[in-house]
Amino acid sequence: MKKIRLDKFLSNLGFGTRKEIKNFLKEGLIEVNDKVIKKPVHIDIETDTVKFDGETVEYKEYFYYMLNKPQGYITATKSKEHSTVMDLMYEEPIIDKLFPVGRLDIDTEGLLIITNDGQLAHRLTHPKWNVEKEYYAVVKGNISEKNLSIYEKEGLQLNKEEKTKPFRIEVIKTDNDKSQIKITLTEGKYHIVKRIMEKLGHPVLYLKRIRIGSLKLDESLNSGEYRELTEEEVKQLKKLVNLED
Ligand code: URA
Repeated sequence: MKKIRLDKFLSNLGFGTRKEIKNFLKEGLIEVNDKVIKKPVHIDIETDTVKFDGETVEYKEYFYYMLNKPQGYITATKSKEHSTVMDLMYEEPIIDKLFPVGRLDIDTEGLLIITNDGQLAHRLTHPKWNVEKEYYAVVKGNISEKNLSIYEKEGLQLNKEEKTKPFRIEVIKTDNDKSQIKITLTEGKYHIVKRIMEKLGHPVLYLKRIRIGSLKLDESLNSGEYRELTEEEVKQLKKLVNLED
């Protein structure tokens, strides 16, 4: 049995504030088990059927989206100076409860998970869980594949105090003093890809995240577009970090 107050239930799903829901109740818009209910009673989310304006309401506690982040947006929920990634999702009803998982720089594009599931977000970003993040990058200079395998074993000493975890670089193409690469790492430290590539003598000119663990960026999403994750996509992500239902 999972009891919850009717106004909280509907407000969690984005039907309005609890005050607004109380007004909808008074207006007779809400039914529980086919009876119009005018007071915020407790309901059992597993067995009771709720209808809003005649439509059955499916309860979900958690919401998961992938956003194809464009450049020019910061990865935050609020900012006075910049547009945030949440501005791209303003149509979502539970926008106030959603937040981005991890961070992409203002000039980085690509895959960002947006959710209200704090536990999954924490595990996907915590280095302990070793979740791979894969980026496509264009870097300055002609990078040679030789000697890159060492970083897969040892990581890279960035400065006196800081050493990265092991990471992998794959060269896709190199010409005209530019190279296209894929780089895969399991940590999300500040500017990590840019700092690694700078240290290797190949500053980043363009950066896009294309994968987080089992989740690949859906290439049908244009920059700035987002979609809900499928149940299977959520299941696979949870499996990676031991959060299977
Ligand atoms: N590494 C960076 O340097 N920037 C990002 O946005 C993500 C990873």
